[in-house]
Amino acid sequence: MRLNPPYEWREAPPADYAVLGDPIAHSLSPRMHKAAYEAAGLKYRYVALRVEPNDFEEAIDKLIHLGYRGVNLTQPLKELGAKWARHPDLFVTRVGSANTLNLMEGSAANTDAPGFVDTLPALGIWAPAPILILGAGGAARAIASVLHEAGHRLRIYNRTPERAKKLVDETGIKAEILKEPNPEGVAMVVNTTSAALEGDAIPVQWSRADKRTIAYDISYGEELSPFLLQSGLAGLKVCDGLEMLVAQGARSFEWWLGIVAPLDAMRRAVG
Ligand code: ATR
Repeated sequence: MRLNPPYEWREAPPADYAVLGDPIAHSLSPRMHKAAYEAAGLKYRYVALRVEPNDFEEAIDKLIHLGYRGVNLTQPLKELGAKWARHPDLFVTRVGSANTLNLMEGSAANTDAPGFVDTLPALGIWAPAPILILGAGGAARAIASVLHEAGHRLRIYNRTPERAKKLVDETGIKAEILKEPNPEGVAMVVNTTSAALEGDAIPVQWSRADKRTIAYDISYGEELSPFLLQSGLAGLKVCDGLEMLVAQGARSFEWWLGIVAPLDAMRRAVG
């Protein structure tokens, strides 16, 4: 199902906020933010625009010219967003990943990280625990950093191990870099990769996981990702990224507008 008109950034319509990425047609952010504006009595418009990394700066310039106030960024643009900002907040500076920009001020925030943490108590993750993160892109940088700060013991696996090493070196976190995605002895495995978008699965050795381990995929969609399908078949508790979408979206709304987000309306719009 195509949820958004397939806007290319060069054909961006008049609007106030947008989510940028590639691919982008699957994004539920426009629906969710529209519901938030309606519930809050605001007249803003929020659209999804396809932007490739090479066009990022030009696209942002065009949106500023069109009067857009802010954007959310999804893969593969979060690291570019952090570099673009004249006024990144401290967390963005440290992790080099931003998913929320204020185009009027040139500022950047990362709401993925606190949005992810918001979802953990409902999964029973209260105390520091061993956690395996799959991936080393922008989302992984933010999630690894915030989990490290909360005292969790991290392991990271990435298809390209050098990128995992770079993540650890540049963010200053403590984490063990694994050669294989082995889930033995961890309380949770978090999939931050975009492998499913390419029709791939990460070769996690699920038979080695404890049955109480949570398999958490930060992506969402009508169909279960190969990661969630395989972990579910192995008897693990699974969680997709829908609640994190709502949590990070609410935090972006509050950062842009300075008013409390209508969380229930946002959740209903995507649930
Ligand atoms: P995001 O900002 O959402 O994290 P990203 O920076 O493009 O997006 O990062 C994508 C992550 O998914 C990377 O860890 C990438 O691995 P590489 O560093 O090896 O490229 C991972 N990824 C993407 N496609 C993959 C695939 N087919 N198999 C395994 N990992 C994949």
